[in-house]
Formats: sequence, C-alpha cells, structure tokens
Amino acid sequence: MNMIFLGAPGAGKGTQAEVVCKELNIPAISTGNMLREAVANGTEVGLKAKAFMDAGDLVPDEIIIGILKDRIAQPDAKNGFILDGFPRTVAQAEALDSMGVQIDKVVEINVADEKITARMSGRRVCEKCGNSYHIEFKPTKVEGICDACGAKVVQRIDDKPETVQARLKTYHEKTAPLKDYYQSRGKLVTVEGQEEIADTSKLVLAAIKN
Ligand code: AP5
Repeated sequence: MNMIFLGAPGAGKGTQAEVVCKELNIPAISTGNMLREAVANGTEVGLKAKAFMDAGDLVPDEIIIGILKDRIAQPDAKNGFILDGFPRTVAQAEALDSMGVQIDKVVEINVADEKITARMSGRRVCEKCGNSYHIEFKPTKVEGICDACGAKVVQRIDDKPETVQARLKTYHEKTAPLKDYYQSRGKLVTVEGQEEIADTSKLVLAAIKN
C-alpha cells in the first residue's frame, strides 16, 4: 500500500508514520529527515536546502522531487511506503503522478494551529538518528538522551515559535490545496488529531484499514 501522510507542521505525521510503518512493515519516507541528514552531512543538497528550512519555507520543488524519486526506487519501498512530508505542493503531487506512482490513500491529520504552536515548543529530536520525542507527551526514558541510539536529543532550529508561525503560513498557502487535489481523486481521509498520540494512532489505523 502506498500512502501519503498530510498535515500541518507538528500535526503528528511523523509520529503516526512511525507507528503505521511498524504495523504494516513498510518504510516511512520523511523528506524532512532526509533533508536534515543532508544538512548535517554538508552535502550539496543540504547546503542548498538549509536557508529555506531555517526560514520555515519550502525547499524548491526541483531539489526535493529528485531526492524523492531516488528514494522510492530503493528495494525496501517495492511493497509499499508512507510518504511523510511529500508532496508539499501541487507541482510535487503532479510530479508523483507523472512518475507513475500509484497512491492508495492520503491520510490527513487535522490539528488546529493554536494546539500546534504549543506542541512544537516541547518537541525534541535526536541529533544522530532523527527520532522524535516530546518533553511532555513522549519523553525519552533518560532525560536528554535518545532511547533508540543513545545520542543527545535537541530542539530543532525551525521549532522556534516565530519559525513555526512561518511554517504554518507556508502550509496553508502551499500545501493545504493538496486536500482538494486528493479529495477530487477519491483518495483523502481526514483524521482528527487527538490529545493522546495512541488515540490518534487508533483512528489512523482504522482509516487505513477501511
Ligand atoms: P518536516 O520535517 O517534514 O517538518 P514538518 O512538516 O514541518 O513536520 P513536522 O516534522 O514538524 O511535523 P509532524 O507532523 O511530523 O509532527 P510530529 O509527529 O513530529 O520538514 C521540515 C522542513 O523541510 C520544511 O519546513 C521544509 O523546509 C523542508 N521540506 C520537507 N519536505 C519538503 C517537501 N516535500 N518540499 C519542500 N520542502 C520540504 O509531532 C510534533 C510533536 O508533537 C512531537 O514532539 C510529537 O511527539 C508531538 N505529538 C504528536 N502527536 C501528538 C499528540 N496527539 N498529542 C500530543 N503531542 C503529540
């Protein structure tokens, strides 16, 4: 099954993608994680992407489409995948269509902007493996240390309140039109994000199995 997880920054796409990919044994492909890795490694793509990411803007379509195309061609994606954070523009969705990629479901996780702003200040990510936590809702077992790899967890540069506002604005202007794009193709299911991560997971899994 090929799926897209759609939603505003901080709505919980990454968190839910992690749950569902374990359940279905398919990879979750996060373009955000791929870009952060490229920035950390100082690659050409990373150098080009960093300023856009730090400002809360989208990385240009031509950069991200190439990266995504290479990633979904990998053998682990042949039985299905979850795209977390791609497409982010109608041009990216059209590129996916023109690659001949069949999308079975688009799961939108809907959370109000006010809730997101509060949530993001508590997010922490592992600087090595990218695992995501929350100081209140999903704490690490040992404070400041990643459960998965033991490296330090830090706040993302783009989780500063003013950048979160810019990211929300970008989402409403450039990404939200994808809801109509996939609704008109009969692919969109919307799940209301819940207070508890596990409660949202139940709704997401039910929506996928329906
Ligand atoms: P990306 O990494 O994709 O960031 P984002 O879309 O802004 O998404 P987030 O990772 O912030 O949110 P999420 O919905 O995954 O939330 P999470 O599950 O972590 O992209 C970063 C940047 O890269 C972009 O701004 C752009 O510049 C660039 N980029 C990436 N893809 C691109 C593309 N296709 N085109 C162009 N540019 C691109 O949850 C957030 C927090 O809340 C966590 O701490 C979590 O533990 C907590 N939480 C989750 N669910 C709940 C709940 N139900 N209750 C309480 N807390 C919860």
